[in-house]
Amino acid sequence: MRLFRTQPRIALAADADAPAIASLYERAWAEHLGQVDERLVRDQAPLADEVAAWLRGGFEVFTGTVDGDLVGVVRCSFPTGTCLVDRMAVEPGRAGNGIGRALAEHAIQRARRAGVTKVWVQAVPKLEGAVRLYRSLGFRESGHLRAHYWGEDVVLMELPL
Ligand SMILES: CC(C)(COP(=O)(O)OP(=O)(O)OC[C@H]1O[C@@H](n2cnc3c(N)ncnc32)[C@H](O)[C@@H]1OP(=O)(O)O)[C@@H](O)C(=O)NCCC(=O)NCCS
Repeated sequence: MRLFRTQPRIALAADADAPAIASLYERAWAEHLGQVDERLVRDQAPLADEVAAWLRGGFEVFTGTVDGDLVGVVRCSFPTGTCLVDRMAVEPGRAGNGIGRALAEHAIQRARRAGVTKVWVQAVPKLEGAVRLYRSLGFRESGHLRAHYWGEDVVLMELPL
């Protein structure tokens, strides 16, 4: 546990944020090329048009900024009484400073406000950072998808609220 952390300002994304968000995804996932299947990297690094479509189409995307710079992003959706938290990414140069944790905690708070009873995340076990982060927040593995369509095993994790 680190004592000093960057506390990002977290806000709901607007249409105008879509290009910067897409570009952050590209940088964050480029780090993992060669480590995980390319299909996963391609799917997780959408173009700005796709991000803009999420914002119009029932997803809530939250941005984290520090001194006005975009440093992280996370997405929430609310399928039937639950909250799915996905598409989390942190600017590679800012990793390890508590930004991912702050975004995930914000998403959980959002789920509580929505009155849902469960939060879901999917994580790729090879990407140990995300799995550890979710475990430390109380998520527990509830299913394993072998050789998912991303070409990677995926673990489904749940947090009852
Ligand atoms: C996963 C990710 C969002 C974490 O963001 P971050 O800002 O670096 O994470 P934090 O600094 O808030 O770390 C929170 C916890 O995560 C875990 N963690 C984060 N990075 C880790 C790493 N490289 N190795 C091991 N554990 C790690 C630790 O348990 C850490 O605990 P601590 O708060 O007690 O130190 C970021 O690394 C990222 O963008 N990765 C690429 C995209 C990705 O994997 N997204 C998740 C898709 S499922």
